[in-house]
Order: sequence, then structure tokens, then C-alpha cells
Amino acid sequence: MKRLTDVSKEEEDIIIEDNIRPSSISEYIGQSEVKENIKVFIEAALIRNEPLDHVLLYGPPGLGKTTLAMIIANELHKNIKTASGPSIEKPGDLAAILSTLEPGDVLFIDEIHRIPRFIEEILYPAMEDFTLDIVIGSDNQARSIKIDLPPFTLVGATTRAGDLTSPLRDRFGIVCKLKYYTVEELTSIVMRTARVLNMPIDNEAALSLAKRSRGTPRIANRLFKRVRDFALVAKKEKIDLEIAENALNRLKVDILGLDEVDRQYLSSLIEKFNGGPVGVETLASSIGEEVTTLLDVCEPYLLQNGFIKRTSRGRVATAKTYKHLGVNYQENLFL
Ligand SMILES: Nc1ncnc2c1ncn2[C@@H]1O[C@H](COP(=O)(O)OP(=O)(O)OP(=O)(O)O)[C@@H](O)[C@H]1O
Ligand SMILES: [Mg+2]
Repeated sequence: MKRLTDVSKEEEDIIIEDNIRPSSISEYIGQSEVKENIKVFIEAALIRNEPLDHVLLYGPPGLGKTTLAMIIANELHKNIKTASGPSIEKPGDLAAILSTLEPGDVLFIDEIHRIPRFIEEILYPAMEDFTLDIVIGSDNQARSIKIDLPPFTLVGATTRAGDLTSPLRDRFGIVCKLKYYTVEELTSIVMRTARVLNMPIDNEAALSLAKRSRGTPRIANRLFKRVRDFALVAKKEKIDLEIAENALNRLKVDILGLDEVDRQYLSSLIEKFNGGPVGVETLASSIGEEVTTLLDVCEPYLLQNGFIKRTSRGRVATAKTYKHLGVNYQENLFL
């Protein structure tokens, strides 16, 4: 079953995310540094009547890269064309997208680190001189042609900035790193989603969701949707703290945003392996999970929040983990 706290998107997220995505920079909550810079660059581009410099957005999944790309196009009053790294398989795929651009348009390429290297090279002159150099024909018939492109802005998004080649990275004039959101920011995001979806929520209830959202708007919105389901079935017209906490407890997302798999991971680490060090493969088989799930979903959050440490000999539990699980254990004694 798909985990509530998994940051990757599912079909349902895509549909709902399109409804609740903020569409202007003033509605985009948090990321103040990035926002302030982008505002200035957009304003300057508008005054000069030139396209905005190419923008690279990077950061963990669900933090608002796609949303910001769309906002940039809106604020520039231009169209956005979207593509994603893995869907660009042949030089012709990229050439086809580039040739549909109108002057000043935004070309958004998601997962840009996944464009094959030999295709990436076509992007260099396109980004730098707005020209498309392509080879047509093959063998001794092959010839290279140059096509002028209208000036455009490439917005690239990636969760793995380290996987970008340096020639590509260097061609972005504006590079923005998105950070995890604070609990206050996530509370505002939940309140905003509640307004858009027309289901009021109390401040304390929104705060409770925010605390369990792992710094990630996508998770905050997903938790909101689930809690809203509980509220609807209970025939409540407003989500209050009681209904929110009830729902979250039933969904088994705890006060620090850990779900069942995270807790199994941590209790196995403590109970079966004495707090570590232990290899991730051994841990995975001890709880019957895939190694990749632990590496991609559990560990980034556990590491980031100081629940575990990664050492050369394996994973180690921290004092925070002992405390967190210990509290749960005592609570259970009194149930
Ligand atoms: N700053 C923000 N303010 C309000 N809502 C936001 C913000 N950032 C993201 N969201 C919400 O979170 C959801 C996920 O954001 P988005 O799809 O832009 O993330 P992403 O970084 O592109 O993720 P991925 O790496 O998986 O593509 C969106 O539906 C949007 O509604
Ligand atoms: Mg995205």
C-alpha cells in the first residue's frame, strides 16, 4: 500500500495538486529568500522586455518546484510548455518541443538530470544563443543545420542537483534551492488548502497536521485530504483538533511525522540490533521491507531529523530515537 508520508506523487495527488496549486507568487507560502530573488529577476526582465534568465530549481520532492515553475510563467504573462527528462529520448523529441516555443515562453523540464547526455548537448546552444544545432540524415549524407529559436526561459527542476553535469548547471543564470518548510509555513499551507477545498479547519488542527508533514507541502495536503474524509463521514462541518488527531492516529502518523514503517525501522534497530550499527540490507529484511524503500523514503527524513546516523559500519539509533520510542512504550503501558 502507498504510504501517506511517501513524498513521491501518485495519480490522486496530480489531480488534486492541480486544483490547489497557488498560481501567483504572493500565494506561494514560505521559501522567502527564493521568492524575493525571483520577484526581482522577473520584474527586471519585464522592465527590460527580455526573457528571464534560465532558472534551475532543486530540492527534495513535494516542496513546490513544479508549482514555482508555473508561477514564474504566470508572473511573466507567458505560456509554459512542459517536458520531463525521461520522456526526451531522441534529439528529435527535444527539437520538437523547442520549435513550438513563442518568444519569451517558459520551457519547464522536470527531472532535468535524467536527460541523456548526448541530447543535453543540444540544450547548450539553445540556452546560450537560442539556436538549435541538429544533424539530419546519416552517414555521409549527414549534415548539420542551425535553426534560430525565439528567446525563451528554460526552467529546470531536479531532486538531484548533484547528478547534473557542470556544463548544464553552468548555463543557468538563476539557481534556487528549495528548503523544507517550517511548521508555521505548513500550517498556512493547510489553512490555504482548506479554504480552496471549502472545508474549514481550526488553527490547532492545522498545526497538528503541519507538525506531521515532514516539512513537505505535498504531505501536508495529503494528510489534509485524509482528515477531511474522516470529518465528512463524521458529518462535521469543520475540522477541529479532536477529529484531526483521531484521524491521524488511525492513519498511524505520529506526532513527529513518523509512520508505521519508520517506527518498525527504528524499533527493529533498537530492539533487534541494540541500536546498531547495522547494515541497511539487514534492517530491511528484519522488517520485510525493500531496501530501496528504506533508502529513498524512510532514511532521508530519519537522517535529516536526527533519528539515525549513518556510519561506515551501518546505521545507528540516536538518543532522540530512544526517547521517542520510549515515550510511546510508556504511553502504551497505561492504555
Ligand atoms: N510554497 C507553497 N505554498 C503553497 N502550496 C505549495 C507550496 N509549495 C508546494 N505546494 C503544494 O504542494 C504540492 C506539491 O508541490 P509541487 O508539485 O510543486 O512539488 P515538486 O517540488 O514539483 O515535487 P516533485 O519533485 O515530486 O515534482 C502542490 O500541489 C502545491 O499545492
Ligand atoms: Mg514537480
